[in-house]
Order: sequence, then C-alpha cells, then structure tokens
Amino acid sequence: MKAIVQDVYGPADVLRLRDIDRPGIGDEEVLVEVRAAAVDPGVWVLMTGRPYLARVMGFGLRRPKVAVRGRDVAGVVAAVGARVTRFRPGQEVYGTCESGSYAEYASARQGRLAPKPAGLTFEQAAAVPVSGMTALQAVRHSAGVRPGQRVLVIGASGGVGSFAVQIARASGASVTGVCGAANAGLVRSLGADDVIDHTREEIDRDGPCYDVVVDTAGNRPLSLLRRALTPRGTLVIVGGGHVAYRFTGGMGRTFRAPLLSVFTGQRLLPLISRERAEHLEELTGLIESGAVIPAIDSVHPLAAVPDAIRHLIAGHPGGKVVVTVPGTA
Ligand SMILES: NC(=O)c1ccc[n+]([C@@H]2O[C@H](COP(=O)([O-])OP(=O)(O)OC[C@H]3O[C@@H](n4cnc5c(N)ncnc54)[C@H](OP(=O)(O)O)[C@@H]3O)[C@@H](O)[C@H]2O)c1
Repeated sequence: MKAIVQDVYGPADVLRLRDIDRPGIGDEEVLVEVRAAAVDPGVWVLMTGRPYLARVMGFGLRRPKVAVRGRDVAGVVAAVGARVTRFRPGQEVYGTCESGSYAEYASARQGRLAPKPAGLTFEQAAAVPVSGMTALQAVRHSAGVRPGQRVLVIGASGGVGSFAVQIARASGASVTGVCGAANAGLVRSLGADDVIDHTREEIDRDGPCYDVVVDTAGNRPLSLLRRALTPRGTLVIVGGGHVAYRFTGGMGRTFRAPLLSVFTGQRLLPLISRERAEHLEELTGLIESGAVIPAIDSVHPLAAVPDAIRHLIAGHPGGKVVVTVPGTA
C-alpha cells in the first residue's frame, strides 16, 4: 500500500510517499481502508520529536516507533480481528488508529472506532475524532458547561476551538470566541455570540465575566487567563504551546494549575484527552442532531501531507486540515 513514511525525526521534508506492507491486526483490532485522515498539532510533535518530552514518554528516543504519521481516520472496514464484535467488513467507520492514517490502510482498536455519522462525507468525518473528542472532554466532561453560562474559547477558529464553540453553544452557553480577524466570520458562523480579535484586544477586555475559559492557544500566562474568569469559574488548559518550547512543550502551566487551584476558588484544570468509542458516539449524536458540523479549512491529497502539516503549523487554519486518500477498491 502507499503511505507517508518517516525514518527519522525532523521537519516535514523527512516525510516520503512509499510502498510498504499493509499493517497487521490483532484480535481486538480492525483493518480500515482509509478514505480520509486529518492533521492535528500532535502529528507535528511525533514528526519532529519535539518537545523532547514526547520521546521520553515512549514515542521513540532516536526515531519514531511508528513510521507512518496520522491519527484521525475515516474509512471502510476491510477486515476484523478474531475478538472484534462491534464491526464487520464493509461498514463505514471513524475514529483514531494505531498504525498511522496517512496510508491506504490503517489498523485501529475497536474501542477507538465508531460508525461514521450519517450524512457526513469521509473528509468531514476524519476531521472529527482527535479535535472533537478534545473539545467534548474540555467543554462537557471537564468544565461541565451548563445552560446560561458564559464561555470563552481561546483559539476558536482552530481544530479544537471550532468544535468547542459549537459544543458550548449546544450546551446552552453564550460563547465568546478568540481568534484573528480573518477567522472572525467563521467563528460567528459556528455560533459564537461575540468575537475577540487577539491581534487587537486581550481576553480580559470585559473583566472577570466568564464562567468557563477553554484555552487551546496555549500562549497566555495563568494570571491573564484567571483575570477573565469569575471568582468561582473554571479554566480548562488544552493547548501547551508545543511549537515554542523545545523540551517540555510549555507544560509549565499544566503542572502549576492544579497546585494553584488549591489556593483559589477558581478551578484550573489541565486536560489530557482520551480516545474512546463512547465519546465518538456522543459526538455522533451532536452531529446527527445538527448541533455540530465539522469546519474544514482545506483538503489535501495523500502525496501532499507535508504541505498540509506545514500549513497547519504556519497557523491560522479556519477549522480542520484534512487529507483525502483515494479508495483502493
Ligand atoms: N490537551 C490535549 O489532550 C490536547 C488534545 C488535542 C490538542 N491539544 C493541543 O491544543 C492546541 C490547539 O490544537 P488545535 O488542533 O486546535 O490547533 P490549531 O488548529 O492550529 O488551532 C490553533 C488556533 O489558535 C489560534 N491562535 C493563534 N494564536 C493565538 C493567540 N495569540 N490568541 C488566541 N488564539 C490564537 C489560531 O487562530 P487564528 O488563526 O484565528 O489566530 C488557531 O486557529 C495545540 O497545542 C494542541 O497540541 C491538546
């Protein structure tokens, strides 16, 4: 099969389109014929091996353990392992994969897949898993956003933020999105009641008025984030500023926030997102009810994955950067 492969850590130039063997599957795994994948900042982390903390955490000290990049996947089940009960060949699925989705086939655990939402294209479905689950866990599971609350989403036009705005709205909150001027129209179209242009104003513009702040941009100190929060408000830290910090990926706020929480009425919560079929199914419900529509920035062919990654990391995407993979059937 064709796949985007890397032998060493480095910039997008280290990626090559090559013919390699299809991945094998274990008893609990599904072989997916990939129709679409997506790009998220985690792909950049695994491609570059930066922050170095990621290498120590088990992704490979000198070179990436998994040579094919790409985590989000949407496609058709080609084969199932002996103990797979939830899926059968021919079924359309979406989720996250183990072997890398910038390829014609990928292996995925059955517990990390769900049936593709009705009415979504493969490209739209591939845009959902990593970013949608992160936004869902930030807005609903961590912050527990309730009707009538005021929510601030920082990085509202990005992969996670574009889902967070819609999920907060669907939870009955009023939403202010923080983004650059070029993406203000998109963020309003996703349901934001108000927009703060981060190139002109800061997030504490309106004083300590937000019950919940979801920070995906990762480049503001805790003190500034707290100034936008009500005295008993909740901050969810999603982004860590991975590009700027070579060793730890800007995890300093993540470590300090829980300590500081002990001394303040505000809840300061770092998020480590999890990949679970039940969270995909919760997203499917939001999508099929019309409350959430994946926002797509651009679609790139498999061979152009390096450009797609460069585009994401250059910043300012309006929604998700997606990769389309031609069917092999
Ligand atoms: N904690 C977890 O488990 C978890 C899971 C997934 C992702 N993440 C992290 O979450 C972060 C965001 O991911 P993503 O996929 O949403 O990235 P993304 O698609 O690149 O979006 C980031 C957004 O941040 C906005 N932005 C840039 N500078 C800003 C500033 N100074 N103020 C406010 N907004 C600014 C940009 O909007 P404009 O172009 O409009 O400026 C951009 O759209 C990354 O650090 C990623 O690693 C964490």
